Amino acid sequence: MYQVGIITASDKGSSGQREDLSGPAIRDILSGHPEFEVKKMVILPDEPEALKGEMVRMSDEEGLHLILTTGGTGFSKRDITPEATLEVCQRRVPGIPEAMRYYSLQITPRAMLSRAEAGIRNNTLIINMPGSPKAIREVLEYILPSLIHGLDILTGSDSECATPTL
Ligand code: MTE
Repeated sequence: MYQVGIITASDKGSSGQREDLSGPAIRDILSGHPEFEVKKMVILPDEPEALKGEMVRMSDEEGLHLILTTGGTGFSKRDITPEATLEVCQRRVPGIPEAMRYYSLQITPRAMLSRAEAGIRNNTLIINMPGSPKAIREVLEYILPSLIHGLDILTGSDSECATPTL
């Protein structure tokens, strides 16, 4: 079972001015997949140091296999989640946000405005999810089967890509 951390990046959410619906949307979708266990959920302001610090803690200290962020991937001046993510990763995984944008573009052309990134820090995969619960519901189920295969390889429980599954 893969252990998951969820980080909501939101100035309004972290100050209590807005209820966070996006973190719970991720948790609810993962609850339907026995391969994942959500160990921690946090809401943080759109501050690079706070976001980077939590990603490092979840990866290095808590040993979580997967970190899903939500929020901060748009064009607002305070949207810096992708930059914070890349700063803590050693390796980029461009195919995951490419796949999310490809899939989402069939729903809305505004998906081209997503700046989401994904990367690997040691044994942890970090992925920026979209900010809205609607967009999360649209893309998370689509990427989950491939994530499981990627995590199997990252954690060493599978070394074969020979048998692709849909
Ligand atoms: N992706 C999906 N699947 N569905 C959506 O409705 N909205 C987009 C987009 N990606 C959307 C989506 C919009 S309107 C924007 S501005 C960008 O992602 C960035 O949004 P974010 O900051 O909420 O991630």
